[in-house]
Amino acid sequence: MGFSGFFRALALVTIFGTLLVSKSMAVVYKVGDSTGWTTIGNFDYKQWAATKTFQIGDVILFQYSPQFHNVMQVTHPDYQSCNASNPIATHTTGNDSITITNHGHHFFLCGVPGHCQSGQKVDINVLRAALVPTPSVSPTPTPDATVPSTPPSGAATLDAMAGLLRKLGFSMAVFAAFVSVLA
Ligand SMILES: *[C@@H]1O[C@H](CO)[C@@H](O)[C@H](O)[C@H]1NC(C)=O
Ligand SMILES: *[C@@H]1O[C@H](CO)[C@@H](O)[C@H](O)[C@H]1NC(C)=O
Repeated sequence: MGFSGFFRALALVTIFGTLLVSKSMAVVYKVGDSTGWTTIGNFDYKQWAATKTFQIGDVILFQYSPQFHNVMQVTHPDYQSCNASNPIATHTTGNDSITITNHGHHFFLCGVPGHCQSGQKVDINVLRAALVPTPSVSPTPTPDATVPSTPPSGAATLDAMAGLLRKLGFSMAVFAAFVSVLA
C-alpha cells in the first residue's frame, strides 16, 4: 500500500467510523425480551429496564396479545398507584413501538385491572448522558499566564472561539477525508 493508499484507507475508516457512531444511536428495545409484555411468569420489568441504557431516538417495542393487555403511558403518581384512569397515551395494537424523544422517565403500565398491581409496569428512564465532553466541563486553557488583566468577558470570548475552532476543526477533518478519497 502506497502513501496515498494509506491515507485513502484512513479517510474511509474516518468516514465510516463517523457514520457508524451516528447510526448506532437508535436501538429497538423489546420490553421483556422474548417474554414480551405480559403478566405470565411474573417477569421483572424493573430489572429488565435496569440493565438497559436508553437514549433519545431509541424505540420501545411492546409486543402482547391485544385481547388480554394494552399499554398506557401514565404520570409518575399514576404509575406508583397503578391508576389507569388518566393515561397520557394508550396503545392497543399488540405491537406498539414508541420512539423516545426526550430525557427523563417514561412510565408505562397495562391498563387491564389487576395487571399493573401484579407487576406489568415499566419505567423507561432516559439519562442525560454526556457522550461528548462539553467545553464548559473541560478545563479552560489559559492563553498566557503572565497576562492577568484579561477581563471575564474576554475569557468567555476566547472560550467561545476555542469551541468554534474545535467544531470547525472537526468538520474540516471530515472534509479533508472526503477530498483525499475523491482525489
Ligand atoms: C385515579 O386517578 C383519578 C384522577 O386523578 C382519581 O379520581 C381516582 O380516585 C384515582 N383512583 C385511584 C384508585 O387512586
Ligand atoms: C412489530 O413492529 C415492529 C417495529 O415497528 C416491526 O418491525 C415488526 O415487523 C412488527 N411485527 C409484527 C408481527 O407486526
